[in-house]
Amino acid sequence: MRTSKAAGADLVEIRVDLLAEDERNNWKTILDQKLLPVIVTNRASWEGGSAPDDEFARFAILSSAILAGADYVDIEFAAFDEFKRYIASQNSSVISRIILSHHNFERALTLEEIRTIYEKMVGKGADICKIAMATTSARDNAVIFQALREASRRPLVLIAMGELGQCSRILAPKFSSFLTFSCVGHGRESAPGQVSTEALINLYRFRSLSPSTRVFGVIGDPVLHSMSPALHNASFGNAGIDAVYVPLRVNDDVPAFIRSMILFGFDGFSVTIPGKVAALKAMDEVDNVTAKIGAMNTVVTLSDGRLRGYNTDWIAAISAIEDALTDNNQSFHGARVLCLGAGGAARGLVFGAVARGASHVVVANRTLSKAQELANDVGSCASAVSYDALLRADAGQTASDRNQMDTQSRDADSSAEDRMLSFDVVMNTTSIGMHPRTEETPLSSEALRRMGRPLVFDAVYNPLQTKLLLEAEELGCICVSGLEMFVRQAAEQFKLWFPKLEPNVSLMRSVVTERLANK
Ligand code: ATR
Repeated sequence: MRTSKAAGADLVEIRVDLLAEDERNNWKTILDQKLLPVIVTNRASWEGGSAPDDEFARFAILSSAILAGADYVDIEFAAFDEFKRYIASQNSSVISRIILSHHNFERALTLEEIRTIYEKMVGKGADICKIAMATTSARDNAVIFQALREASRRPLVLIAMGELGQCSRILAPKFSSFLTFSCVGHGRESAPGQVSTEALINLYRFRSLSPSTRVFGVIGDPVLHSMSPALHNASFGNAGIDAVYVPLRVNDDVPAFIRSMILFGFDGFSVTIPGKVAALKAMDEVDNVTAKIGAMNTVVTLSDGRLRGYNTDWIAAISAIEDALTDNNQSFHGARVLCLGAGGAARGLVFGAVARGASHVVVANRTLSKAQELANDVGSCASAVSYDALLRADAGQTASDRNQMDTQSRDADSSAEDRMLSFDVVMNTTSIGMHPRTEETPLSSEALRRMGRPLVFDAVYNPLQTKLLLEAEELGCICVSGLEMFVRQAAEQFKLWFPKLEPNVSLMRSVVTERLANK
């Protein structure tokens, strides 16, 4: 109770059924010293709880909670009639407010089912109605938001359980849910998907959320590790914007999710792996570069409700590299570039480097066909090589080894081997070297030396100083960290969502640096 109060909770739920045996016998002492209003719940096993299977013993605890002054008592809707008979048989009356609850741990409920249960609960005299359901798709949140919008007869608490439904917990004030359940800390959740009270208040600025709050979020799977909520919420708070940014784990149809959420006041999204290509299908329009790259990371809702997709990843990375080149009196113009990887990030970087004037880009990828596809899409100033062949060449092996390199080039004048030897810019877009495999590097120090000490950009930002960057720095290469790309892609998103405001880039940078340092 003390911890919850210190964290900023408004009221505390005592789950009698979850207390240890010794605590269960004298749980009322908690009520005697209560620091906050209290909900007493003694959840039946047939409703997902842990109370022993003796309904009368269960009711007796709730009845004594009422006598002891509990502010709210939670009773399962299915047991309410029997509970009322029990109370009458004890010649006592209910003075606490009654929360009638219904849980479905098996599946998500339909809107029609929620409406029916709610009406029945109101009819039975609930003071507050609570309905919690399992979530199989992130789109189940739309059902929750719609049902909350409609509920006007009694306060309603509506929860989509699990990580897929986490935004329904965070956004409770936006949709006028009577309350939301949070936990005192990581690992102390009493139901799946709960957020800590501290995170609700400090990270999501729960106190300032209201029906007029604009909602943004990051779509991905997984997404809980994402630093985007910390970065964007801090930035919204700093700019005094009435908006919140939530993690949105989407494990199925990304376009359908986007379409369903914009009906409920979602104004924009970031999109991360693996949804960057699929999200394009939900867009009414995309800018030319994004269409060429074939992957996007930003959704903007236009004033007429249409959706516009952007890719701010490539601008972020290319501008970070360009700034570092400029600082050293160099430029992309005429540069020879090596790109490691051929996924979504690589596509943006390769198109970007060519657009900025690179004379040739070699795409090296584990799966050669993907590198070839990207090089083909870019045209004559790009060629492909398998990552293995590149590593063999890196190892400084013989010319015959290098001749085995499987390259594809449209540039008949220069051999693939020559192009492999020196580079002005090396960009790593693979996950090699990322936490926890921090001892790995996509290119050896020796290879970097052989390549002529190029500028090295690493899209990996966890850790901030990857082995690749560390060794490059030791060699005297110019280094650009993935942090710069991450911060700048977010700053570009901010500009797209709030065209009249300037992002506070140094705040964004310090939020991410601090988070990484505390990991
Ligand atoms: P992103 O959108 O961040 O680019 P992605 O599309 O999944 O993510 O691409 C990841 C890239 O890193 C791919 O080019 C991948 O190689 P494959 O196309 O062969 O899958 C590359 N990659 C990931 N892990 C790798 C590893 N251990 N060794 C070599 N390449 C790797």
